[in-house]
Amino acid sequence: MIEKLQKRRSIRRYTEEAVPEEKLKTILRAGLLSPTSKNLHPWEFLVVRDKETLGKLTDCRDKGADMLKGAAAAVIVMADTEVNDVWIEDCSIAMSNMHLTAADQGVGSCWIQIRNRNSRKDGMTSEAFLKELFSLEEKYAVEAILSLGIPAQERPPLQLDERLWEKVHFETF
Ligand SMILES: Cc1cc2nc3c(=O)[nH]c(=O)nc-3n(C[C@H](O)[C@H](O)[C@H](O)COP(=O)(O)O)c2cc1C
Repeated sequence: MIEKLQKRRSIRRYTEEAVPEEKLKTILRAGLLSPTSKNLHPWEFLVVRDKETLGKLTDCRDKGADMLKGAAAAVIVMADTEVNDVWIEDCSIAMSNMHLTAADQGVGSCWIQIRNRNSRKDGMTSEAFLKELFSLEEKYAVEAILSLGIPAQERPPLQLDERLWEKVHFETF
């Protein structure tokens, strides 16, 4: 497990190749297997593979989403906020599990933050931009997007910065 965690990196450059259907399904399965508060599954995963739509999606952020232009796919992770008030945690776990599973499948991916961020369009929030693009109902909140593609870059595995142990506290703080 630790080896897999070290191999996971944010990959922002992709080849022109499509992500094989079976690998995409495996990544989505990881999302669907994620635990949720009260087992309520408030999330929805919107998969985009259409190149024109992926191009449009880059404008959902003022910066930090340009990799979507060259991505083979994207998974928009959102939630029905009426189902549970802790949808942010539920969505984050699903994002993390899909991000890790993508790495395990040899698929590059990157977390693109949507919640609390702004788009390139007339002072619109990133979420409002996506709600307009996909005609999403008001009750849905968008947490993040996972960009996906066959890696066109290699990144070394993470090495634990031993200084981070300062963040761990036993018994007292
Ligand atoms: C909550 C969260 C939000 C992030 N948002 C973005 C983003 O909007 N755009 C981006 O390029 N990377 C984003 N990242 C990726 C981080 O920049 C990256 O994980 C961090 O720099 C460490 O690099 P690594 O993932 O290769 O270990 C985000 C990561 C997390 C966990």
